[in-house]
Amino acid sequence: MQYFNIAIDGPAGAGKSTIAKAAAAKLGFIYVDTGAMYRAMALYALEKKISPEDEAEIEKACSQADITIVYQDGKQQIILNGQNVSEQIRTEEVGNMTSKISVYLPVRKKMVELQRQLAGNANVIMDGRDIGTCVLPNAQAKIYLTADTRVRAARRMKELEEKGNLCSLEAIEADIMERDYRDMHREHSPLKQAEDAVYLDTSHMNPEQVVEQIIAIARKQGLCLAVP
Ligand code: DC
Repeated sequence: MQYFNIAIDGPAGAGKSTIAKAAAAKLGFIYVDTGAMYRAMALYALEKKISPEDEAEIEKACSQADITIVYQDGKQQIILNGQNVSEQIRTEEVGNMTSKISVYLPVRKKMVELQRQLAGNANVIMDGRDIGTCVLPNAQAKIYLTADTRVRAARRMKELEEKGNLCSLEAIEADIMERDYRDMHREHSPLKQAEDAVYLDTSHMNPEQVVEQIIAIARKQGLCLAVP
């Protein structure tokens, strides 16, 4: 059976996960957050006190870290060596480490294999940095989601504040810019818009509008589902 795959790529804080989650719920698709998989790998490296510069140790860690995905009430859970780390991976420290270790080929190979397995077995909306360009080049619908850096920083600050973490807008913006630069300039599968992806700047759109646009793009690409 041929499943319908929607690939969403874009820089940090563009709202990919919020949008992909909402669109998946509307379409009855499975949402696959690939950043969470890389984050689990980074958490493992942090716990083992491995330096992000030590490629050999990171490669070794790839064979020691067993990362699996399970779904509980439709929500993706990340299991690292038997432990549910879905909450633990959401810190800025883990985010930064993730961007550093995801430059390495062994890390990417491990994650891409898992991601392709998931997409081969269900209708999925998958978000990340290289989904349309590398992981699912044959995805029926591809979207490159972005927004102004300042807007993205403000959104991330709101998210952090809601969790009780206070930080400055400038610090978050600097962090986002550094992460984007690294993600866009790495050797393997850098973040870039796939040639056949639709570019969507969400700076002045609300989440509902973005979700509608994505569903419209998927329909144009042949998705025929009755959406409430
Ligand atoms: O989307 P996120 O913030 O959870 O991603 C964290 C980091 O993971 C991001 O800076 C780069 C890396 N990543 C990647 O290299 N490829 C992906 N498909 C997803 C994330």
